[in-house]
Order: sequence, then structure tokens, then C-alpha cells
Amino acid sequence: MEKAQDIAALLDKDKIPRHVAIIMDGNGRWAERQGKSRIEGHEAGARNVKEITEACQELGVKVLTLYAFSTENWRRSKQEIDSLFHLMGRYMKQYSGQLHKTNVRLLHMGENQGLPEKTIEDIQKGLELTKDNQNMDVCVGFNYGGRREIVRAARQIADAVQAGTLSPEDITEEVFAQHLYLPEHSEVDLLIRTSGEFRISNFMLWQISYSEIVVSPTLWPDFSKDDFYKAIRDYQSRLRRFGGRP
Ligand code: FPP
Repeated sequence: MEKAQDIAALLDKDKIPRHVAIIMDGNGRWAERQGKSRIEGHEAGARNVKEITEACQELGVKVLTLYAFSTENWRRSKQEIDSLFHLMGRYMKQYSGQLHKTNVRLLHMGENQGLPEKTIEDIQKGLELTKDNQNMDVCVGFNYGGRREIVRAARQIADAVQAGTLSPEDITEEVFAQHLYLPEHSEVDLLIRTSGEFRISNFMLWQISYSEIVVSPTLWPDFSKDDFYKAIRDYQSRLRRFGGRP
């Protein structure tokens, strides 16, 4: 079996993706297979966030975006939703200090509206603590939906047109991207989805236009640094043409 360090050593340090986004799927199935509750599956998933953030720092990935709670996840049971909110708060408390020490900035991608006050407060504290850090950004998609993000951007642009501060002919892709939740991270280089499903699930619909996509069969709590390095190797083996010809 290939070892994590061996795969990492073989990676081309000049072709590390700047922005990696991950759909962390499979916590529920992982829990079921272990005879555990879904919540325990999410807890194991949250622990793995630390592992993969470290792998990104080791390789020099500058931006990691994680899909932690989607606008569709509101359809889950109240118990599961509450536990995800609680977990998010705990994660922010436990890890934001560690991330701060390694100069990582935390960012929130999504809406506060609808979230419990306590969760908003916990998120806000983590953002505030790390706001001046410059080594790497970890963006947490929480109460996030790709379509909702695009509709929100369209509304803001419509408001600007109505107010007379923007004319319709000046609406370009660049202008549109300025209205996304995190305008400075509007391009994803590599999108990873775990647990073998070939779906986008309303994640970063604008930002993934030219992303390379890697689907790993591994369930998120088991998705190791090895698996992450393999996904990067896969990315490096592809030729990105952005619609053009070499
Ligand atoms: C998908 O697995 C995962 C989620 C809906 C939640 C992801 C949350 C975490 C990994 C923990 C919190 C993260 C942070 C950053 C604090 P699923 O439940 O849909 O799995 P299944 O498809 O196997 O049921």
C-alpha cells in the first residue's frame, strides 16, 4: 500500500490547487456501519476536518471550503439539525484557537438568518479571533445553498441598478462575482466529493464552472490524508484547458 508521505513526496509542488472545496458526504453511512448514531458520524466528520486542514497547510493549499450545512439540510430531523448546530459551536470553540496559532483565517459562507443566536455567536467569535490571519483561509459553508447565493447576488445587483449606481451593460461576470458570499474566493480549482456520489447538491454553482472534480468512494470520516493526496495527484494528472486548446 502506498503511504501518505510517499504520495505527498511525489506531488508537483508547483501545481498545488489554490482553492479546494469539499462536499463532506457519508457521515451517516459511516455511523450506520459502525453501529453508531448519525450524530456520532457527524462528530467523527468534524474531527476529520482538522486532519484535512493540516494536510492542506502541509501542501500549501491557500483556501479550503467545506460544505457543513446546506439549505436543504433543514429537511432533516430536528434532533439531527440541533446536533449539527451544537457541533458547529463546539468546533468553533475547540479548533479556532488552534487554527489561529497556525495563522488560519476562518470565513463563513452562507446565511445567518434562521440559525440559532448561540450558533451565530459561536461562529462570529471564531471569525473575529482569526480575522487578521494570512496563511490560509478555511471557509465553512453553513446554511449555504448555491442557488440562494446566486439569487441573493442578482437581488443586490437589481437594487444597484434601481438605485442608479450600476447600469445593466456594466453587469459582467466580474461584477456578478463581487456579489457572492466570499468574492475573493470565486474560483474553485478542485472539488472533492466523498462517499462515491456523483452529485453537486447545490454547492458553489458559480464557483465550480471550471473546477476539476474528484469523487472518492471513501466515507468522509475515513477520508484520510492519503486519500486527500491521491485526489491532488489525480488533479495534477489532468490538463486544465478552461475551454481552450493547448
Ligand atoms: C453529509 O453526510 C454531511 C453533513 C450533512 C454534515 C457535514 C458536517 C460535518 C462534517 C461536521 C461539521 C463540520 C464542521 C466544519 C464543524 P450525510 O449525513 O449526508 O451522510 P449519509 O449520506 O451517509 O447519510
